[in-house]
Formats: sequence, C-alpha cells, structure tokens
Amino acid sequence: MRVVHHVAELRERLAGQDRTVLVPTMGNLHAGHLALVRQARAAGGPVVASIFVNPLQFGAGEDYGRYPRTLEADCALLEAEGADCVFAPDMAEMYPEPQTVQVLPPLADELCGASRPGHFQGVCTVVLKLFNMVRPCCAVFGRKDYQQLFLIRAMTRQFNLPITILAGDTVRAADGLALSSRNGYLTPAERAEAPRLYTVLRDIATRLSSDERDYPGLERAARDELAAHGWRVDYVSVRGQATLLPPTGDETALVVLGAARLGNTRLIDNVETGLRVAPGA
Ligand code: PAF
Repeated sequence: MRVVHHVAELRERLAGQDRTVLVPTMGNLHAGHLALVRQARAAGGPVVASIFVNPLQFGAGEDYGRYPRTLEADCALLEAEGADCVFAPDMAEMYPEPQTVQVLPPLADELCGASRPGHFQGVCTVVLKLFNMVRPCCAVFGRKDYQQLFLIRAMTRQFNLPITILAGDTVRAADGLALSSRNGYLTPAERAEAPRLYTVLRDIATRLSSDERDYPGLERAARDELAAHGWRVDYVSVRGQATLLPPTGDETALVVLGAARLGNTRLIDNVETGLRVAPGA
C-alpha cells in the first residue's frame, strides 16, 4: 500500500485505472470506516482511501483543532484491510489558494445544517475536489451521515459526475451506539448514556411502521426523553427518504434523524423505515 500526499503522485500511481474506488475519510479510523473499505474492495477496482481533516466543514468553536490526527495508525489499519493507496493531501495541496468557489447544496440550513452553518457547503466542496483529484468510478459513504450522503448523491447526479455513490451501513457497538470518531470524546458516564439516541430514533421508526403518523408528537416525545437524560437536542426529525423533507403523506419510506449533544460531544444517528401501504392503495 502506498501513501501519497500529492495529486501528481496519485495520478502516476493510478495511471491506466478506470475502476478506482474512493473512500473519503477524515482519518481516526474505526470499524465503520473499515467496513466501507471492504465494501469498496468488493466493487473490484483499486481502492484509494483519502484522509484529510477539512477545515471548510468545521464552524467556529467546533472541534477542528482537536479532531484526532492519527495518520500512522490509520495507514496500518488500511493496509491490513487491503486498501491499495492512501491519499493524504496537506492543506497546501488541497487549498493552494483561498477556496472562493464553493458548492452550495440544498438543505444546507436544515437538520445538521441548522446548527452547523456552512458545514455541508464545506463537505460538498471538498468531496467535489477529491472526486476531481482521484477520478474514481465509485465512492463509498456511510449511511450514518445520512444528510451528507443525500447531498453528495444530489451533487453527483446534478453535476453529471461519472461516479457511482455506494452507501455503507452504519456499524454499531454491541449496545447500539453508532461508531464515530467523535465517540472518543465521551467520558465513561456519557459513553454509557450515548446509545439512548439510537434507542429513541428506533422507537419512533417502530411506531411509524405500526401506522402512527403524529410526527410532531413523536419528535417532541423523543426530544423530551433525551433532554430528561441530560442531552441538549439539536433536532429529532422524521423525513421522507426520497426528498429529506418533512413528510407530505405520499412517502413510502421515511427516515428518522437525530442530533444531540452529551457534554461537549455532538452525536448523530438515523433509522430508516418503510411504511405499510394500504391494500389497493
Ligand atoms: O464523512 C466524513 O468523514 C467527511 O465529511 C468527508 C466526506 C470525508 C469530507 O471531508
């Protein structure tokens, strides 16, 4: 496995390849990332994992400075998982000049975007740059970052990028907590409490699949339960899977999304659910 820091070297390495599969990451890898790499390998072509902590997607006061940089350990994990190449550009390679042209996706101010202004603009901008640098035929993103996956799919489609976006399932700890690099910030007491986010979202999904339709009531009850256990809730929201907008009644598939903070750590999760379609409908 080669570790390259420059686009020119990456191009040399990938010359003649048209089946490259990209797994974009910010490093500090865990089993969830490694599952994405396995999925990428199954797609058949050479696998490039990128590692870049992207300042554009962090707001003022967020954890850009303390986000764990663990390149050596990450490379060892990627090598063991069979990745062919790590692309780890530095700031000068990614942003040689101020990035004054950026991608402004829809829904940028909704859900996670409401409490993280500019976040999805930063994500889409760096992902478009990575796509142009690596020129993959496929790229793999986790379902845990549901809104990110939705917006990257929309960007890829609407800009006619010749890239297939593959979605990787969320990998969970035995108690249900979705794996995340940010779980490492949790104190032992917070870690014990953290699975509740998944529990409340799953509970809403179960109720939706049993035909409950009081979305605001379900969302409110979940927010109250989290708050009663010390969480500061950014949102709990039921949305249509196809649009990521509030349900209008025409949906056949919904997703329940949530983001909430325990102490200084912000966690996100989501649960997809189908809806029972009435016979003859
Ligand atoms: O999901 C992430 O780790 C990041 O948002 C991504 C897609 C690598 C862009 O920086």
